[in-house]
Amino acid sequence: MTESIYGNNRARMQEILDDMQLRIGALRQRIEARTGMDPVEHYLGRIKGEESMREKCRRKGLPETAESALIEIRDAIGLRIVCAFLNDVYLIRDYLASEPDLTIIEEKDYIRDAKPNGYRSYHLIVRTADGYYVEFQLRTISMDTWAALEHHLKYKKKIEGNTELIAAELKRCAEELASTDVSMQTLRDMIIEGNGTES
Ligand code: GTP
Ligand code: MG
Repeated sequence: MTESIYGNNRARMQEILDDMQLRIGALRQRIEARTGMDPVEHYLGRIKGEESMREKCRRKGLPETAESALIEIRDAIGLRIVCAFLNDVYLIRDYLASEPDLTIIEEKDYIRDAKPNGYRSYHLIVRTADGYYVEFQLRTISMDTWAALEHHLKYKKKIEGNTELIAAELKRCAEELASTDVSMQTLRDMIIEGNGTES
C-alpha cells in the first residue's frame, strides 16, 4: 500500500470534520429553538479521497505531497451545507465568521455574482487554530439541484454539438431557479410576518 497523501494528518483531519459537523448541528438546534425553523435542509461533510486529491495535485502541477494537499490545496476537508432559504445561507456564513477560533481565508459570493455558466453558491475557506483549511459550500436546495444536474450533464462527457445552445439553456435554468429562491424567501418572510414570529 502506498502512503497516504495526507501523511499522518488523517486522524486530525477527521477530528476537524467531526468538530465542524457538531458545530453545525449545535447551530441548527440554537436557531430552531429560537425561530422554530431549521436553517439547514441537509449537509455533507467529506475528506477528499486519496486518488481525487492526487489527481488535483497533478492537474495543478503540484508534487503529490501532504504539503500540497493540505496547504496549497485547501479543500481536503469540505462541507456542503444546503439550506431551504436564501437568508439561511447568510445566517450560516455569519455564524462561521463569528467563530473566534476560525479565520476566514477566502470568501466567494457566487450568489450575488454567479459564475458565467449560472453556478451559484457561497464558498468560504476557513483556517483552524492549528492551521488546517476547511472549505464550506453554502447553497440553497435550488442551487444544489442545478449544480447536481449540471455535474451529471458535464461530468466526463465531452459536449460536441450545440454547445452554445446547451450553455444558454443551462444558464436559463439557473436563472429560473434563482428567481424561485427569491420568491420562496419572500413567501417565507410574509408568513413569518403574518405569524408575528421573529426570523
Ligand atoms: P478549485 O478549488 O481548484 O476546484 O478551483 P477554485 O478555487 O476556482 O474553486 P471554486 O471556488 O470556483 O469551486 C470549487 C468547487 O465548487 C468545485 O470543486 C465544485 O464542487 C464547485 N463548483 C464550482 N463551479 C462549479 C460549476 O460550474 N458547476 C458545479 N456543478 N460545481 C461547481
Ligand atoms: Mg477552491
